[in-house]
Amino acid sequence: MKFQEFTDDCQHRLDKLFNVYLKNSTIPAKKLQDAMTYAVLNGGKRIRPLLVYATGYALNASTENSDPPAIAIELIHAYSLIHDDLPAMDNSDLRRGKPACHKAFDEATAILAGDALQPLAFEILATHPATLEDSQRLAMIRILSDASGYQGMVSGQALDLAGTDAISEMYQLKTGALLIASVKLGAVAANVRDKKTLTALETFAKNIGLAFQMQDDLLDIEDSAITGKPKGLDTANKKITFPSLLGIEKTRAMIEELYSESLTALKTIGEKTLFLKELAEALLQRKK
Ligand code: IPE
Ligand code: IPE
Ligand code: MG
Ligand code: MG
Ligand code: MG
Repeated sequence: MKFQEFTDDCQHRLDKLFNVYLKNSTIPAKKLQDAMTYAVLNGGKRIRPLLVYATGYALNASTENSDPPAIAIELIHAYSLIHDDLPAMDNSDLRRGKPACHKAFDEATAILAGDALQPLAFEILATHPATLEDSQRLAMIRILSDASGYQGMVSGQALDLAGTDAISEMYQLKTGALLIASVKLGAVAANVRDKKTLTALETFAKNIGLAFQMQDDLLDIEDSAITGKPKGLDTANKKITFPSLLGIEKTRAMIEELYSESLTALKTIGEKTLFLKELAEALLQRKK
């Protein structure tokens, strides 16, 4: 199978699953449902689920067993972006080239859509009909709750808003945590517990996580027609970012180095890591 086929297949599975859990599901509040669906189905790259699937593939998980963590982590990510764009946070009107959720709907609905996507992620881990053992489901719930809550993304967001000198740590929390969780979830889907493999995957994702947020900072000054986000918002919001601290060239060099380290980490795992490798290579080139 080629990488393109692999990603097409993953995207197709994700669309189908999101239709079941969001678009065609029974949610009593229609506007809430529309806002949840909008935030999840309006054109994200779905990097985190692709990492789950590519890790599952590398470790011989059945694709079906990777489905629940793949959609769960994307739901958490989508919620984090809805809240990130709110006026009280980054105050961004544009997401993925379209009005941010609170602009397409209203602030209260956007807050509630984020609130609803979070428990839905955990509900899916608990109940999706894949042939996962309860112990695997529990491990997934722990990984995702650690990465998304105060031990991970939410603390990162709090430090981002407060401003911090420990920028690498803040990036590891706000962005790295969910990327690391993605590979851990793929490993649990495959029921792999080998320490060496897990450490290698973690190193891979940790490097990518930091590089991914540094790229995001560089993209902040690029054309919004390509990035789908307002140009220069970090500067307007006086954010501390890698480019603002180190300059563009040094940031670029660090990104290259981090991606190369991420690929080195994969070498200990074996040949089925090819899609992880191609995913990392595609991310290095990303323009949005
Ligand atoms: C944006 O994430 C926020 C960061 C953590 C940098 P993505 O770049 O993965 O956003 P989408 O889902 O593809 O829009
Ligand atoms: C990452 O940071 C956001 C989250 C962890 C949700 P940013 O605030 O830079 O993300 P964008 O640029 O709005 O996508
Ligand atoms: Mg932010
Ligand atoms: Mg933001
Ligand atoms: Mg950004």
